[in-house]
Amino acid sequence: MNVKEVLQFADELVFAQTGKHLDDIQETVIKGVWQGETYDKIAEQCNRSESHVRDIGYKLWQVFSEQLDEDINKRNFRSTFKRLHIQSSQNQKICHVNGSNHNFHFSPQILYNTNQDNQENITKSQSKSPYHDLTLAPKITHFYDRTLELQTLSHWLTTQNPRLISVLGLSGIGKTTLVKQFVDLNLPQFDVIIWKSIKLSNSLDTIITEIFTLINHEPVQTDNKLTQLFNLLRQQKCLIILDDVQELFTSGQFAGQYKTEYKDYKTFFTKMTEIEHQSSLILIGQEQCQEMLCLDEELYPVKCLELEGVDNTEILKNLKLKDEESWPTLINLYEGNPVYLKDIASLIRNIFMGKVSEFLKEDCLLLTEDIKFRLNELFDRLSLIEQQIVVELSKFNQPVSREDLRQALSLSSTDLINGLQSLSKRYLLKTIEGEKISFNLSPVFTEYVRTCCQD
Ligand SMILES: Nc1ncnc2c1ncn2[C@@H]1O[C@H](COP(=O)(O)OP(=O)(O)OP(=O)(O)O)[C@@H](O)[C@H]1O
Ligand SMILES: [Mg+2]
Repeated sequence: MNVKEVLQFADELVFAQTGKHLDDIQETVIKGVWQGETYDKIAEQCNRSESHVRDIGYKLWQVFSEQLDEDINKRNFRSTFKRLHIQSSQNQKICHVNGSNHNFHFSPQILYNTNQDNQENITKSQSKSPYHDLTLAPKITHFYDRTLELQTLSHWLTTQNPRLISVLGLSGIGKTTLVKQFVDLNLPQFDVIIWKSIKLSNSLDTIITEIFTLINHEPVQTDNKLTQLFNLLRQQKCLIILDDVQELFTSGQFAGQYKTEYKDYKTFFTKMTEIEHQSSLILIGQEQCQEMLCLDEELYPVKCLELEGVDNTEILKNLKLKDEESWPTLINLYEGNPVYLKDIASLIRNIFMGKVSEFLKEDCLLLTEDIKFRLNELFDRLSLIEQQIVVELSKFNQPVSREDLRQALSLSSTDLINGLQSLSKRYLLKTIEGEKISFNLSPVFTEYVRTCCQD
């Protein structure tokens, strides 16, 4: 969709609402916002005050919102118009108009104009065809449940233009799978999609250089690489996914503390939210860091999706298990963690002939070597204070209060509270509200600590 088409479409919407065509200033505002400019800069171009331009913009977004029955603002204007354009040209060539109860057709001129001018524009926009690099992302063959989480991601990315989204949760809970499924379902929404894993290429400099070369087909200049990247994120709607973000953080310290060599990521994540552009970065990881937090999600373009286990027996469907009535108990026992369930299912197939009820008769929380390996990796990342806390918590079958923990461990208040906070940022600790606030670990992690970490 080029500027001319945007103005034509905007003019039709404004005309439908007010009976008047766009005036010069309205055109300049739409053009400027489409090109990612600030109100300040647009005001300079048309020799008006910034507040006047902002006011015009505000009224335009109101008209578009009413006409298109969607909440449209400066930040999502470009992505919404593009999406409607794609839907309109690919699917039904119609978009619904609120209020008047009939359908608004994109002008045939916009979509099918065959004059030379438009042909040139079509050729230009084709040469800038979408670029998707998902070579480092997993291929999803089976995907179950998570309808709500997919809806949440979709709602955020199509209507709110968040610049930073973190998808967080325990190892194996399904973070990577969920985001890849979302990406597969939403490819046309983005000009550029790039998937990177910190496990595979970890320096920010390398990642920026790779992203640049992939999109621009020419190397990035060595100075001010971040500035060049942000220019790109302003011009095109990009979705960048960084997986395994916990690799940026130090083991043996509280959660979310950057390793010295990765401090530049902290700046990158902060700038991602501060600088105005039309792209989004999804961070996938097992630990929360400060840049992922947001005081007020309405005000700041930062979102956080925290994944819990699945509670739908669908996930066991292709795992060749018997006794379907026992599946909910099995899912509950292994906290709905897909990776634990896959591993246990394989054991039940081999040793119990697939009979889940037979396995449950053992009446113990069995940990396979693979589950222990994953939990061992988590345990090794903990600070000494956190290790002390989890060993203490694992001695009890019920939640333990702060006071009891403090006495048992002789930790200072600060150390204990920071330790608890860090464990919750790793999704290892549950806080329980009762007469007293108390804490416990998940049953699987408790079992692991009891059997493997007593030294
Ligand atoms: N919704 C789902 N439907 C079917 N299988 C799933 C689903 N979610 C996860 N899985 C399976 O569980 C396994 C672990 O999922 P995934 O790799 O996404 O976890 P993760 O949270 O990214 O783990 P890690 O933190 O270790 O990277 C994968 O093999 C995947 O196929
Ligand atoms: Mg993963």
